[in-house]
Amino acid sequence: MPSSSPQRRRFLLAAPAAVAGVVALPAQARNACLVTDGDILGPFYRSGAKNMVKLAEAGVEGERLVLTGTVLRPDCKTPVVGATVDFWHCDHKGAYDIKTPDEKIAPENFRFRAMAQTDQNGRFVFDTVIPGRYGIPPGLEGFEAYAGQTRPAHFHLTVTHPIYLPLTSQIYLKGDPFIAKDPWARHSRLVMDVKKGGSGSTGAIDIVLANRPGQRRA
Ligand SMILES: [Fe+2]
Repeated sequence: MPSSSPQRRRFLLAAPAAVAGVVALPAQARNACLVTDGDILGPFYRSGAKNMVKLAEAGVEGERLVLTGTVLRPDCKTPVVGATVDFWHCDHKGAYDIKTPDEKIAPENFRFRAMAQTDQNGRFVFDTVIPGRYGIPPGLEGFEAYAGQTRPAHFHLTVTHPIYLPLTSQIYLKGDPFIAKDPWARHSRLVMDVKKGGSGSTGAIDIVLANRPGQRRA
């Protein structure tokens, strides 16, 4: 289970200061197990995506990517079986299948939208292309203060399960220089390392769900 190695499951606390060498964190803090942070849903979500692995057929423009996710309990090690993952992103040029948040679109015309249920190992896989960056257009309700800013490449997803707190988040790509300037990505730990391969790239990411308030610890 390469995406669930101890290194991948554990996140660095106070990363900016620690990386800069300003604060020497104790080993216990460096290895803390933290649930995955939420991120904005964004204005381009549509419900009704089909269950499927392949979001982009052969010939679709863009760099191929097979993304493998592992959904884990709050203990950062036990797989969550049967979680529902709803996943969407723009094309390699940064365009969604809808142009405005209020545009109507039938599910049969969806592009780069899919759902999955995690398997016995907590896994889901999507075979797609790497999305492009896009600029936040002017006049987008709720995003007026960010008009003109370029969003780093990202995948959107929600993860739901009968037991744990629902999660809405975004997966960013390690090394994207636009992460540091993005009001949402710069706070995110959900940053995936993409490995180049002969027939396309691969990436793996762990997602740790949180307990609901008052829930017994997983
Ligand atoms: Fe987006």
